Amino acid sequence: MTKILPIDGHSLPLAAKIIKNGGAVAFPTETVYGLGADAFNGEAVANIFKIKGRPNDNPLIVHVHKDYDINRIVKDIPGYAVKLAEKFLPGPLTMVYKSRGLVSDAVSCGLDTLAVRIPSHEGAQRFLKYLDIPIAAPSANISKHVSTTTALHVYADLNGKIPLILDGGSCSGGIESTVLDCTGDIPVVLRSGLITREMVEETVGACGEYVFKEGGVARSPGMKYGHYMPKCRTALFKSVDKDKALKLYDEESEKGVEVCILCGGGAAKTLGGRKCLDLGDTPEAMAANLYAMLRKAEEICGLMIAIAPEGRGGVMTGVMNRLTKACKSKYER
Ligand code: TXA
Ligand code: MG
Repeated sequence: MTKILPIDGHSLPLAAKIIKNGGAVAFPTETVYGLGADAFNGEAVANIFKIKGRPNDNPLIVHVHKDYDINRIVKDIPGYAVKLAEKFLPGPLTMVYKSRGLVSDAVSCGLDTLAVRIPSHEGAQRFLKYLDIPIAAPSANISKHVSTTTALHVYADLNGKIPLILDGGSCSGGIESTVLDCTGDIPVVLRSGLITREMVEETVGACGEYVFKEGGVARSPGMKYGHYMPKCRTALFKSVDKDKALKLYDEESEKGVEVCILCGGGAAKTLGGRKCLDLGDTPEAMAANLYAMLRKAEEICGLMIAIAPEGRGGVMTGVMNRLTKACKSKYER
C-alpha cells in the first residue's frame, strides 16, 4: 500500500532508501507533483515509464537541488541560459542542454540532450538535497490523465503502484514548468508555463516558440501525445460561442446527463444558475486551479463543457495549451 507522509526527518530517510533501491517516490514541486527515481539507474527510470504507462519515447526531466553543479551532467551552457537561470531559478523553468551522457540513456529516451529543472518548492529542495543526485521525474499521474497538484490526487492515480508519496500540500503554480530549449542561438519555448515567453524575451532579448504540427516531428516528444484528459466527456467552446455551450448544456441535461461548465474570468456569473466550476479571475489563479477542477469535473459529471477564458499571451498561453489538450478527448471517451 502507498503511504502519504509529510516531509520530515522520518520520511526523508525512507524516501532515500526507496530511491537508492531503485524504487520511485512521489514528491511535491511548485508546479505539479513529480514521480521521482535515481536518474543514474536505468531500471529505476524504466520502472517509472511502466508505472505511468508512459510512451517510451517521451523523455523525462531531471530535478536537482539549487546547489547542485549542473555542469556535472550537461555541457555547452550558453550565456543567455546563465542569465535566465540567475533570474528565474529555482523556479518553474526547465532548461534543455546537451547531455554529458552520464545519467541513464532511459531518461532522455536516446536524445543527446537533457532537460534539467531546479524546483523552488521548499519540500522538493529538501528531498533533492537529502538525496544529492539528479532525480528523473515526470508528473505523478497515469499517462494522459490530468496532472496532480495534491498528494491525494497522486494517491488516486498511483495507490498500490508506489510505496511513498511525500506530501507538501497543494502546488501553488498548478501547470507544469516551462520547457525551454537552450541548445541553439536563442532559447525556444517547447512547452509554455508560468515563466512566459515574454519574460524570457525581456531578460535575454529574443525567444522563439516551437509550435508542433499534427503529424510532424516533435522537438519535445511529449507534444504529440494526449495529455491532461479527465475521464468524462468534454467539449470546448470559444468565449464568443458561449450561447452554443449553454445550448449543449441544456440539451444534454434534458437527456439526463450530469453536465458542468468549466470557465474563468468572471464568466461563472453569466451562466443563469447552471452548474459550474470556476477557475478564477486571473491567469495565475486559472493555472493554479485547472487540474483540481478537471479532476472535480470527472468526479461530478458525465460531460464537462469548457468555455475558454478570454485573454491570450503570458500565462494564458500555458493555461490554454493545457485546457485545449484536456478537451481533445471530445466525445471519444
Ligand atoms: O513542472 C514540471 O515540469 C513537472 C514537475 C514534476 O517537475 N514535470 C513534468 O514532467 O511535467 P513531464 O514528464 O510530465 O513532462 C516533461 C516534458 C515532456 O513534454 C517532454 O517531452 C519534455 O519535457 N522533455 C523532457 N526531456 C526533453 C528533452 N531532452 N528535449 C525536449 N523535451 C524534453
Ligand atoms: Mg506530464
